[in-house]
Amino acid sequence: MTDNSATAPERVATHRTVLMCRPNHFTVSYRINPWMHPDVPTDTSLAVRQWETLYAKYLELGFDVELIDGIDGLPDMVYAANGGYVLDGVAYGAKFQYPERQPEGPAYMEWFAANGFTVAEPVSTNEGEGDFLLVGDTIYAGTGFRSDTASHDELRKLYDREVVTLKLVDPAFYHLDTAFAVLDSNGGPGSVAFLPKAFDAASLGILDERFPDAIHVNDVDAAVLGLNSFSDGKNVIIAQRATDFERQLTERGFAPHGVDLSELLLGGGGVKCCTLELRR
Ligand code: ARG
Repeated sequence: MTDNSATAPERVATHRTVLMCRPNHFTVSYRINPWMHPDVPTDTSLAVRQWETLYAKYLELGFDVELIDGIDGLPDMVYAANGGYVLDGVAYGAKFQYPERQPEGPAYMEWFAANGFTVAEPVSTNEGEGDFLLVGDTIYAGTGFRSDTASHDELRKLYDREVVTLKLVDPAFYHLDTAFAVLDSNGGPGSVAFLPKAFDAASLGILDERFPDAIHVNDVDAAVLGLNSFSDGKNVIIAQRATDFERQLTERGFAPHGVDLSELLLGGGGVKCCTLELRR
């Protein structure tokens, strides 16, 4: 193994506040992405135990973790990233594409309002931080499967930030956060990781130009949703099985922490999907 500790940049962890939802009502009862197979049984108590390891990891890293109660009949509510997008104390609500998840939008908006956020009601279809990721002062916004580009215009009006549209083309990577990971939210040429084949040519051109030193993950790691990770700038919580991504992170001076969320992968989500960052 090569020791890059002399050349890798010094990584700095910054404090994070996140919202999570314990998967007490998790199961796979419908199919809205290729990962979901309603005929394959799920184990809700195992999902809860695995989720608890992620929750404990965040607490161990000193994060503030806030919780929203899950609702019976909304099995995907555990994927809190889709519950909205929160920046500058303003929570832009989600408007889900599929009817099965639509009641989650108001449930999350109610939580935001009750917890001191200004709520912006969405007009266009959007699935929150699942498709919107902040790098530096730019919001990268996914489209192609879930969020409509009209929601990107709403983001532009709401937040005084550049919004860059990225088009997803592989149905297995249907939310931006399944194909793109923010490693250092301050930005920089190597501040992200992504899966090149998940984007159309124009979007890939933008990513290559803006992030020439990005980590590219391989198909094996992408297939366990390795990119669906959460970083505080130094510690990167990733799928335990994404071993090559783990190696690349270590080489670049990050501290990867593997967790096993195999049960939640049956719904098509991982670490990041279970995490909504709250920026007050
Ligand atoms: N079953 C959920 C759906 O298809 C999974 C959502 C995963 N969330 C995410 N942020 N990628 O909507």
